Amino acid sequence: MSLIIAIVNGKGGVGKSTTSINLAGALDRKGKSVFLIDSDPQGTTSDWYESRKKQPAEQLLHKNLFLAESPWTAEELTSKLKQLSKNYDYVIIDCGPANDSIERTVLTLSDYAIIPVTPSPYDIRSVKKTIDLIREGKKLGAIKVKSYLLISRKIIGTVLGREAREALNTFDIPVMKSEISQRIALCESGIEGKTIFEYSPGNPAAEEFNNLRKEVEKWQRQV
Ligand SMILES: Nc1ncnc2c1ncn2[C@@H]1O[C@H](COP(=O)(O)OP(=O)(O)OP(=O)(O)O)[C@@H](O)[C@H]1O
Ligand SMILES: [Mg+2]
Repeated sequence: MSLIIAIVNGKGGVGKSTTSINLAGALDRKGKSVFLIDSDPQGTTSDWYESRKKQPAEQLLHKNLFLAESPWTAEELTSKLKQLSKNYDYVIIDCGPANDSIERTVLTLSDYAIIPVTPSPYDIRSVKKTIDLIREGKKLGAIKVKSYLLISRKIIGTVLGREAREALNTFDIPVMKSEISQRIALCESGIEGKTIFEYSPGNPAAEEFNNLRKEVEKWQRQV
């Protein structure tokens, strides 16, 4: 059975899709099989996959990374996930920028949730809505997911970047040791439908996603 990981935050543009794609790539590079699901009606991961299909095959490294070709609805997730999860080491679900019924369904079905947060006071404040959604679900017994905050799009050398961890530590959810910095190569790789491991393997972003992968590999199934 797969370890099912939701990448979730009701705030837009925090790096959910970038994290989903590159964590999937990092796991694939270590020989793990991964199925990546887009549950965001905006379809960012599905668009990434479309760009990917146009790339020369010899530039694409990932052999055990599989994707849903279009966003899945809450109904599709519920009906397909159990069967699908028999065949992969990991299922990663990229969520959209909303705390709606799809997110609730994803959180119900997932073992872990990674909540990327950018080091901006506004974003740190607004992550509370996603944390509250998880807390409510847990109170009702509907959600067993174990959640972690992830510092994402950190601008190196800034005070905000340095203070983010301290601010996030005030929530009662652990903060991952790994951090993902703001790097242009991550943005460029996404446009080409590649992971950072394919686009620029020597870029420090690849090391940051490998560090995230190492933390994730220690996780055990919850649901
Ligand atoms: N670490 C990073 N460094 C540079 N650019 C990044 C980084 N993370 C994300 N981006 C860029 O920021 C934009 C938003 O990122 P992404 O799509 O991953 O966020 P998201 O949380 O999935 O957004 P949405 O809520 O709209 O789904 C994209 O253009 C992406 O390439
Ligand atoms: Mg997205």
